[in-house]
Amino acid sequence: MNVDGRPYRSIWPIEQHAVAVIDQRKLPHEFVIAQLATWEEAAVAIQSMQVRGAPLIGAAAAYGVALAMNQLSRNRADPGTDAEVERVYAALLATRPTAVNLRWALERMRRVLGGCAPPDRAAAAWREAAAICDEDVVLNRAIAQYGLALLRRIAQSKGAVQVLTHCNAGWLATVDVGTALAPVYAAFDAGLEVHVWVSETRPRNQGAALTCWEMAQHGVPHTLIADNAAGLLLRRAQIDMVLVGADRVTRAGDVCNKIGTYLKAVAARDCGVPFYAAVPSPTIDWQIAADAIVIEERDAAEVLSMSGRNAEGVTQVVDIAPRATRAANFAFDVTPARLVSGLITERGVCAAARADIDALFALPKSC
Ligand code: MRU
Repeated sequence: MNVDGRPYRSIWPIEQHAVAVIDQRKLPHEFVIAQLATWEEAAVAIQSMQVRGAPLIGAAAAYGVALAMNQLSRNRADPGTDAEVERVYAALLATRPTAVNLRWALERMRRVLGGCAPPDRAAAAWREAAAICDEDVVLNRAIAQYGLALLRRIAQSKGAVQVLTHCNAGWLATVDVGTALAPVYAAFDAGLEVHVWVSETRPRNQGAALTCWEMAQHGVPHTLIADNAAGLLLRRAQIDMVLVGADRVTRAGDVCNKIGTYLKAVAARDCGVPFYAAVPSPTIDWQIAADAIVIEERDAAEVLSMSGRNAEGVTQVVDIAPRATRAANFAFDVTPARLVSGLITERGVCAAARADIDALFALPKSC
């Protein structure tokens, strides 16, 4: 997607010796490109949310493995044993617990490296990480078209489409194009009248900082709302569709996504508004049950404070609760399949139900 008219991805390799990422902690006020030169730096980038969003976390981890293979290949005596690959795999996997794309990408890297002699591993890792990134873009483009068909149907009956989204599931959360925002961009580009209600997404404000920035860069009409305003808009019939991304979707169709998603799904069901999740297949966890999904709990400081830019252009963190207040910071929740109208995948739209997901991905009933 374009930033000030120039095309970017959210991550890209620099001649197989480093990786460039957009530092998402600095947006919307500063557009800063950061370079990662070691796998340890890639791990910190994921942990600190310099990069975030399920597909991008997977891509960053894949490039982390490639950086590790460079580091190991410098050691002539021991250019990357299986034990070292495992050590890097485990460390990167531990960076964030909820998005399954992280494990998916790391397992894919491990499989490829397992088939290579140690001296060939670095080149193979860079190739595979690039392939993961390119494939992410292809999946998201397909999601854009299937989601566009849904938005077009609404536009045909209502004239304009009002979408509510939560967190950031745009191109910044992926390698490019986005998942939940991909159909919005496609609709806007196709000339549909589309407007996005963006919920701020406390505590880290990915909606306010990232989704609003993306929408503004692309010229998509949008309005920022406080998280708790969504219910009012749904009750007033001001929203035609709730469209979110996902960090992990069970085979039964339960959608784990940014904290607050569940409440929007409950309100959407109460108001008869369709609730869709855009889900590329690497976000489906074929094994897990909803109750077993690990919900990341982050530092309480994120809830107790807010970060923003003051009138002098200086970024400041301010306390918003009494000093002694304790806070809990759950980063995700799970929306049960019964509240999900459908999943928009790269293979098409399906019901959030095991039989439908299996049929779309042509899985045999026995597995
Ligand atoms: O904590 P984050 O910012 O990594 O959470 C991101 C989300 O919850 C997104 O909605 C999700 O990853 C979908 S991204 C295409």
